[in-house]
Amino acid sequence: MTQKVQIIIDGKTIDLPVLKASLGRNVIDVRELIREGMFTYDPGFLSTASCDSSVTYIDGEAGILLYRGYPIEQLAADSSHLEVCYLLLNGELPSASEFAKFKQEINNRMPIEEDFQHIFDGFNKQSHPMSMTCAAVAALASCYHEGFDIYDKDHRREAALNLIAKIPTIAAMTYKKSIGEDFIQPEEGLSYAENFLNMCFGTKGKMANVSPTLAEAMDKIFILHADHEQNASTSTVRLAGSTETNPYAAIAAGIAALWGPSHGGANEAVLDMLTEIGHESRIEEYVAKAKNPNDPFRLMGFGHRVYKNFDPRATVMQESCHAVLNELGLADPLLKVAQELETIAREQDYFIERKLYPNVDFYSGITFKAVGIPVKMFTVLFTLGRMPGWITHWDEMLTNGFKIGRPRQLYLGPTARDYITINKR
Ligand code: SDX
Repeated sequence: MTQKVQIIIDGKTIDLPVLKASLGRNVIDVRELIREGMFTYDPGFLSTASCDSSVTYIDGEAGILLYRGYPIEQLAADSSHLEVCYLLLNGELPSASEFAKFKQEINNRMPIEEDFQHIFDGFNKQSHPMSMTCAAVAALASCYHEGFDIYDKDHRREAALNLIAKIPTIAAMTYKKSIGEDFIQPEEGLSYAENFLNMCFGTKGKMANVSPTLAEAMDKIFILHADHEQNASTSTVRLAGSTETNPYAAIAAGIAALWGPSHGGANEAVLDMLTEIGHESRIEEYVAKAKNPNDPFRLMGFGHRVYKNFDPRATVMQESCHAVLNELGLADPLLKVAQELETIAREQDYFIERKLYPNVDFYSGITFKAVGIPVKMFTVLFTLGRMPGWITHWDEMLTNGFKIGRPRQLYLGPTARDYITINKR
């Protein structure tokens, strides 16, 4: 028996079916309302499920994050980013032979063709790496468009492999462009994270000295960023993809959305904020600014639309941060500012009442900085981590069937009126 809810419009009772979730909240199917001359109204989509999905589950109250049912803490501890990519794309963990084949398929696709690299000639050293990344991924559509059938699952799988394979190479190229060094191609025999770090810090003929701890920390950070349900950038990929556009173009739209400081750009904004605060003695001044309703300043790295408890990724990220700093023997003063800021924020009513906890971006920036990644590259690393999530949601939408996304509105503009010629105004 399907559960229903009833609403009454102009005296007429309308039954709306409730669709059951396997985990978390059930949903009221409001599609029938279009026939009743009404829309639902939910700016920012706080109470709106835009789709059904089997990829990632978040319980914001309990601080739970599952990728295809597996807890993020277990995947961060025991898996690898490429294995998580396989899990997200295929829904199940791979066997040893399946994983070996998948890793080879990714490695084979990591190089970027020589002529494509000239896209970077159009940028200068000051070009923001996120702008270069967005442009480069969009430009990949020019290489993989003719004959691409989004309804062919083999074509979709090829695009997924290609994007997961090429994003570390593109990301490293944006870094090399920003420091005026030659590009380094990926190497056989290196792990995904080792290859990325070598393409950033290696030079022609000289491999970078990438320590296992750093490579492991970077790989773990990629795992933590791999997917996160229907966040702003993933919803952008789905909406763009619903027009049947080229998948590389849809992913580029997601990269553009991630760049914003309210979303993935927060990791860069956290470092800028901690640097501006500079010392524990100035924290109270900035906390006061964050609490002032007339001041637009917000504590970057705090708060989340869904998590009203600790972001489980922030917990793992904090551990990674400590491991990297210990390995490097660094006592980054900004880490002390961050820890003091977290302590203060968690003791003050303003933050407790609003359930504002550190999110995934709060500690990632300090880790990236310790590894030697420049601040402007931080959101590019988020892009690298999130690539499998975006392409999995795009593929899920294409696999399960979809309609073009076309929201409506509450119109508050002028009612119809006649045009008046200029000589009569
Ligand atoms: C990511 O959605 C995802 O899953 C995203 C993500 C992913 O993996 O894809 O998890 C990645 O984007 C993490 C979030 C990174 N952003 C930041 O750290 C930027 C700082 N955070 C805020 O801008 C904010 O918390 C958001 C954007 C993250 C969430 O905003 P909401 O849910 O729209 O909440 P809101 O703006 O309605 O705020 C509710 C209240 C307000 O105060 P009142 O009007 O009730 O008095 O909390 C306050 C806000 O002013 N508030 C903050 C705050 N965040 C919210 N006050 C100070 N500092 C903050 N950071």
